[in-house]
Amino acid sequence: MFEIKAKDMRGRVGVLKTNHGEIKTPNLMPVIHPRKQTVDVKEYGADIVITNAYLIYKDEELSKKALDVGLHELINFDGPIMTDSGSFQLSVYGDVDITNKEVIEFQEAIGTDIGTSLDIPTGPYVDREKAEEDLEITIERAKEAISYVKDNDYEMKINSVVQGSTYPDLREYCATELTKLDADLYPIGAVVPLMEMYHYRDLVDAVMHSVKCLPDSKARHLMGAGHPMIFALCVAMGCDLFDSAAYILYAEADRLLTTRGTVKLENLNEMPCSCEVCCKYTPDDLRAMDKEERVQLIAQHNLHVSFAELRLIRQAIYEGSLMELVEERCRAHPMLLDGLRHLGEYSFDLEKYDPRSKKSAFFYTGPESLKRAEVTRHLNKLNEMDKRKNLVVLPTYTKPYTKHLTNSFNELFVYAKDESLSEDAECKIENGETDFMVLDTPFCLIPLELDEVYPLSQSDAPRIRDKMAIEFARDFLIDFAEDYDNVLIHPNVLEELELDYIEEYNYPEEIKFEKDDIKKLKAIADYQFGNGAGDALFTGKIKIEKSKKTGKIRHVYDKNQIIVNMRASDSFLILSKLGAKRLAAIEGMRNKVMIDNSVESFARDGKSVFAKFIKDCDENIRSNDEVLIVNEQGELLAFGKALLNYSEMLDFNTGQAIKTRKGFK
Ligand code: GUN
Ligand code: ZN
Repeated sequence: MFEIKAKDMRGRVGVLKTNHGEIKTPNLMPVIHPRKQTVDVKEYGADIVITNAYLIYKDEELSKKALDVGLHELINFDGPIMTDSGSFQLSVYGDVDITNKEVIEFQEAIGTDIGTSLDIPTGPYVDREKAEEDLEITIERAKEAISYVKDNDYEMKINSVVQGSTYPDLREYCATELTKLDADLYPIGAVVPLMEMYHYRDLVDAVMHSVKCLPDSKARHLMGAGHPMIFALCVAMGCDLFDSAAYILYAEADRLLTTRGTVKLENLNEMPCSCEVCCKYTPDDLRAMDKEERVQLIAQHNLHVSFAELRLIRQAIYEGSLMELVEERCRAHPMLLDGLRHLGEYSFDLEKYDPRSKKSAFFYTGPESLKRAEVTRHLNKLNEMDKRKNLVVLPTYTKPYTKHLTNSFNELFVYAKDESLSEDAECKIENGETDFMVLDTPFCLIPLELDEVYPLSQSDAPRIRDKMAIEFARDFLIDFAEDYDNVLIHPNVLEELELDYIEEYNYPEEIKFEKDDIKKLKAIADYQFGNGAGDALFTGKIKIEKSKKTGKIRHVYDKNQIIVNMRASDSFLILSKLGAKRLAAIEGMRNKVMIDNSVESFARDGKSVFAKFIKDCDENIRSNDEVLIVNEQGELLAFGKALLNYSEMLDFNTGQAIKTRKGFK
């Protein structure tokens, strides 16, 4: 029902298939009121909508009509429709006049595309006992709903809502239990109060602990989330669908949505965007209108802003710039920034989903960037690699920071602390001294051979400006370098720090910025494919062809047989047949994806691999990795580029998983 087309962080551009057509995700489902609807949401860009089955059920006339002509005609929408079950009414009024079974039957009877069971939205911060009690009922009802839908061969797809209040372990437990049931979509529920209170840090916990235990292959809907300000953050955490009554509720209160927050019409001197409404009218025009007309126009603006933001988010995923957008958006409100900082705590999980290489460069937008998945991955890689090999300090940028941020720097400097800091600097970190300045560049420790590899050279951060920072950086580097034999400091750094390091410290003559090409190739191979890959790939009579224009390595041969090409954009190695064979000779599953023997011939013919045929897979595989395709006996069949990470490959049953480059016939 769901396929991934592009990825960035945990965000995905996907396609959701329903009985009323396919929609792109991330997407927003405007809430349609079955009786009071006045806004034509389709005209303003809605591909899918959500309405409330319980409200229809309770209204005799609507209920009769829905059963007669069907839901699509009732609300006059011919695309996919999701229905909610009355759970929200349950959470507001404490009770509803419908059973779980009845609401499931009713949703199927009126022809909804995606129905919902009667989960219990347990609010945040309730007693643990209450959260557990509610949760058991939610899970029981999900079970009942799914077996009912399956036993009766329903057309309708079914939602199973993750609850668990603000208890991370209950969110995980619920998600794990619901995953076993194999529902069609997984909404994350009871987050509306968190959003209303601006408790984005707790929202991050609720979402991350839920998605962590949900299957990758199912779409996730953040229930009741309809403010465009939070879409980017939530998409980065893996949410695919949002729903919004906000567009109309805010319009009725003369409030306009923007990605920077909500604005009141009474405070506006200028219209906030460039939509049709904002271009055609002034705030005074709107204020002078009668209410009904004004609500229509503000709702139109609100929908426009929401859909525009989703287009921007999808484009950012295609480009690999989603985190830059998230970081920008999360500066709209201090509490959102709090949520973003908290997301940094999940870097280890996010790294597993983040593509290995992206089209766009890594932009440092502030200290939060230091916790991004790319940085975590780089530090992990450094720890895996032979640590005492030529480290180079690239242009580094420093800045003073305040106390509460220091923890993140400690982590960033784990590597430096282990291996390369002088006692003095180490001591400062250990004592938790917080007022000293640290190197403010996400990738400051870079083995010399890797300085062209994504994201190490495809990243940017601001320059050092203030004198104090320069002095600190200079001392830091001198300390750092004294303890470390092979530290090379990039000439730009020397220049910026006004540091004539080589003369002053008798830097050994032989250490220059010239690189040994074979060493470089091996280091890149180890960084990309794991330790030992370099030695496995580059043996024999190595011949290196460079670009005449840039002087960069392009092709690497053993005599006349090509082993790898080096991609200009990110300096990653692209395997050839010989390279693939050499890499495959390494013991174990490293870089390998095992496919069902029944499709062996397709792979050998160079056809793409579909996820449903994948039997096993190296857990280090990330999307955009070069991977080896083997059969159940471990024989190499083909090689190609991963479109998914390891867990997605194992979980999906639809769509492509590997774009094959070449097969072995
Ligand atoms: N709408 C907003 N939150 C919820 C929720 O937790 N459950 C359901 N069913 N609908 C919602
Ligand atoms: Zn507008």
